[in-house]
Amino acid sequence: SLSRLLRGHAGRSPGADPSPTREEDLALYERTAADAEARAAQRQHEKGKKTARERMDAFFDDGQWTETGQFRGGDIHQGVPGAAVVTGYGKVQGRLVAAYAQDFSVHGGTLGRVEGDKIAGLIEDAIRLRIPVVGMQDSGGARIQEGVVALSQYGRIFRASCRASGLIPQISLILGPCAGGAVYSPALTDFIIMTRENSHMFVTGPDVVKATTGETVTFEELGGAAVHNFHSGVAHYMADSEQEAVDYVRSLLAYLPSSCLSPAPRYDYETEESDLVSARQVGDLVPASPRLPYDVVDVIERLVDHGEFVQIQSLFAPRIVIGLACIDGRSVGIVANQPMVDAGTLDVDASEKAARFVRFCDAFGLPIVTLVDVPGYRPGTEQEQAGIIRRGAKLIVAYANATVPMVTVILRKAYGGAYIVMGSKSIGADMAFAWPRAEIAVMGAEGAVSILHRREFKAMARAGKSAKDVAAERERLTEVYRRESIGPDLPVSTGDLDGIIAPEDTRRVLIDSLELLASKDRPADHAKHHDNGPM
Ligand code: HXC
Repeated sequence: SLSRLLRGHAGRSPGADPSPTREEDLALYERTAADAEARAAQRQHEKGKKTARERMDAFFDDGQWTETGQFRGGDIHQGVPGAAVVTGYGKVQGRLVAAYAQDFSVHGGTLGRVEGDKIAGLIEDAIRLRIPVVGMQDSGGARIQEGVVALSQYGRIFRASCRASGLIPQISLILGPCAGGAVYSPALTDFIIMTRENSHMFVTGPDVVKATTGETVTFEELGGAAVHNFHSGVAHYMADSEQEAVDYVRSLLAYLPSSCLSPAPRYDYETEESDLVSARQVGDLVPASPRLPYDVVDVIERLVDHGEFVQIQSLFAPRIVIGLACIDGRSVGIVANQPMVDAGTLDVDASEKAARFVRFCDAFGLPIVTLVDVPGYRPGTEQEQAGIIRRGAKLIVAYANATVPMVTVILRKAYGGAYIVMGSKSIGADMAFAWPRAEIAVMGAEGAVSILHRREFKAMARAGKSAKDVAAERERLTEVYRRESIGPDLPVSTGDLDGIIAPEDTRRVLIDSLELLASKDRPADHAKHHDNGPM
């Protein structure tokens, strides 16, 4: 400090200065930091968790990163190293990323004034730098001793995160407890990754649940990784270990632009012989009979570069598949019905899962490839009461407002509302194709014949025709309807399909279409503040 410098000059001969040398000062900082890290390692390792700095090391390329505000909020002369969150910058696959990691070894990783300033400040800086932010959560939530100041800091973080949303990618890793309203800071980000163990998210913990409702519940049952990956849909990936969680985030980032203002990544890609072989096999993976199931992930893997498909939310709403891949080096988002689960019908969860992903791709300029094989929306009281009208509408909003290049391929069938919603040209796709013999219609033949010929069947019964005769007539009319009204001919003739393509040509058609659409203009709508579709 200045006063120390002045003291140093006050009548002392050089070399006799008793105040600390630069080396001693530096050593004090280094020793304080090293002691704190040793304490953190002791507390975290016994729980099978890494320290905040070890997590940053694991996340950035070659463990290289620059820490900001390392001693902020600490008191070096009292041996207090700093706040309960570590912030910094480093590279992921060569591109700059901002990250923070809450340090559970300091006051349980809780959030007070300094931690809030550090996190909100990092997000604001990332907005200015136009780079992604990754947050590693491991915290007891608002620091009780700091009272409502701590709560206000969450408000600041929420506001910064909402400002960043759609501008820069934001990803959360839950690597410990995440309790109270604190869960809403990851909830506002694009993706949430949880570890199978040690990772919990809940708005009210087991003790409060017990006190208020009498329900006895474990941490795991209330907000473990399985709950949020299989049931609530809060999480997007369940990792077996912290390292796997970090690796998944690094993979996601490889497909994303640094911000919505930079183009989506485009990698050099030389088509390999294996791509041609894979592409030829896709047709064989899809059974001709519309009722037989198959795994659409196998189809996707044969259409994308290196067979690499990073699936997102694979455990939640498995009737629909979403994820990232490259096609001829171009990063794209893929949405596909999954005939293996309930014939791939659309339900409330599948609609919301796909809707948010389509919006994500649109925000960050990733073209959307939609592979359709859908019998329709899932019927029944359970879905109606769950709000299929309101929640299913979200998928319409997402596709109808998307302006990125969109290419759709109907693999086997597309019925009713689901045909239109799943990236049809009428809702906004730029190009759409179908495989030969694809079934495309307002509804299935049985249902249509029942409605169209109800009077005739009644009349036959009244005229004394046997049930067998009525059934035979029903079968005949069903066959006629199937032949004449179910197929791609009508949408081909209206231009709602750009063509019928051989399954083995699908990859080539996708490559050509994406190439053709690469310079698509995306005008912004400044006529209104924002839309008001169902959220
Ligand atoms: C202050 C806290 C704290 C908190 C934990 N600690 N939570 N200090 N405020 N909210 C401290 C503990 O006192 C302890 O300090 C250290 O952190 C580690 O905590 P332990 O309980 O020993 O660890 P563990 O057994 O692993 O349990 C972790 C835990 C538990 C599950 C997180 O501490 C817990 O339930 N905490 C309260 C969680 C909670 O209800 N948070 C909601 C706050 S309100 P020492 O000194 O002993 O090491 C909120 C609202 C946000 O977050 C609103 C946003 C809109």
